[in-house]
Amino acid sequence: MSKGKCVLAYSGGMDSTISVVWIKENYDLDVITLTVDLGAGPEIEGVAEKAKKAGAIDSVILDVKDEFVNEYVFPGLKAGAMYEDVYALSTAFARPLMSKKLVETARKYGAEYVSHGCTGKGNDQVRFDASIMTLSGDGDSIKIIAPAREWGMTRDEEKEYANKAGLEIREVGNNRVYSIDRNLWGLAIEGEDLEDTWIAPPEDAFSWTSSIENAPNEEEFIEIGFEQGIPVSLNNKNMSGVNLIDELNIIAGKHGIGRVDHLENRLVGIKSREVYETPAAVVLYQALAALETATLSREQQRIKSSLSTTFSDLVYDGRWFTNLRENIQAFMDDAQKFTSGNVKLKLFKGSSTVIGRKSRFSLYDYNMSTYSTTDSFNHGSAEGFIDIYSLPARMQAKKQKYNDL
Ligand code: ARG
Repeated sequence: MSKGKCVLAYSGGMDSTISVVWIKENYDLDVITLTVDLGAGPEIEGVAEKAKKAGAIDSVILDVKDEFVNEYVFPGLKAGAMYEDVYALSTAFARPLMSKKLVETARKYGAEYVSHGCTGKGNDQVRFDASIMTLSGDGDSIKIIAPAREWGMTRDEEKEYANKAGLEIREVGNNRVYSIDRNLWGLAIEGEDLEDTWIAPPEDAFSWTSSIENAPNEEEFIEIGFEQGIPVSLNNKNMSGVNLIDELNIIAGKHGIGRVDHLENRLVGIKSREVYETPAAVVLYQALAALETATLSREQQRIKSSLSTTFSDLVYDGRWFTNLRENIQAFMDDAQKFTSGNVKLKLFKGSSTVIGRKSRFSLYDYNMSTYSTTDSFNHGSAEGFIDIYSLPARMQAKKQKYNDL
């Protein structure tokens, strides 16, 4: 009888490489690795060889960059999804897409198991498990193996297991092995010395961004064009979302923009020190928010901002495939119908500053807003407006307080 099969989400990192060996040993299954190319990684190179060396019978590599940007990242950007105001959700957007590809690949190979390399302490296990179960009919047909959650090894024991299995692992200076997750929307760095919240992230923890000291001494001006809340051009050159993000990561990263050092509330209840590099995301959120100040009414801005918080919590919490997320998405799509236009920013020494915004749908009207005497605002009707607007406050003051001032 042929062995059962398991499709393993495979990054090429230490945890997932050990998982190939571990699943074979502990479940006696054939392992097919699935690596999705979400951009920004050298990981794709040599990943198939690594998987085979670890014992996988087959290795699937899918380029999902466009799907990732168009179906996850940009809808999230449009929705203003920034977890706890600082985390651009790079990892969190990737998990539902990876889950979808895992389920699709499992169906294709007739595998009854899928697996991911997440530990039992993080958010990612929740995102994977919840998405996989939701997409595969409540997990009846596809079972989930999470080796790193089951094997109970410490980090050092994992390193030892990897060595014993003859696997190469990537180390940085001082033998530090950060847990890194990366895609074109951002890079997340965890663990090792970062676990002391008082210690500044060492310079060699960063790979996309310059330090402020090393950032150019000259400012740089950029212009971003949006159509209905989606970025479509950089410096007046139309480009695909993937290329735009790639280029902006380089430009903004060079100026030291997009470093985030955050003590984050995980879904599983613990706080964790997270360091991110998300240059393009930081600039794009800022630019879009600036454009919205011109294209959305005050009430739209307020409602959007409260829904953004719910939306980002949903994404963070692994609830991408829910009706509520889609309901809010529908609001965002509709609200952003007129968020088309351009934003100019200055990049300099770790910060980006919006210095101009314009839209053919801008609600800003020069003739209304100008302080010059030629304005078209009706000053006379302001008096009447204030008279009625202040009526309830005046009545209450007269009858109930302030009478003897
Ligand atoms: N804290 C972030 C999240 O939950 C990033 C996790 C990234 N994973 C990693 N292995 N560094 O989405």
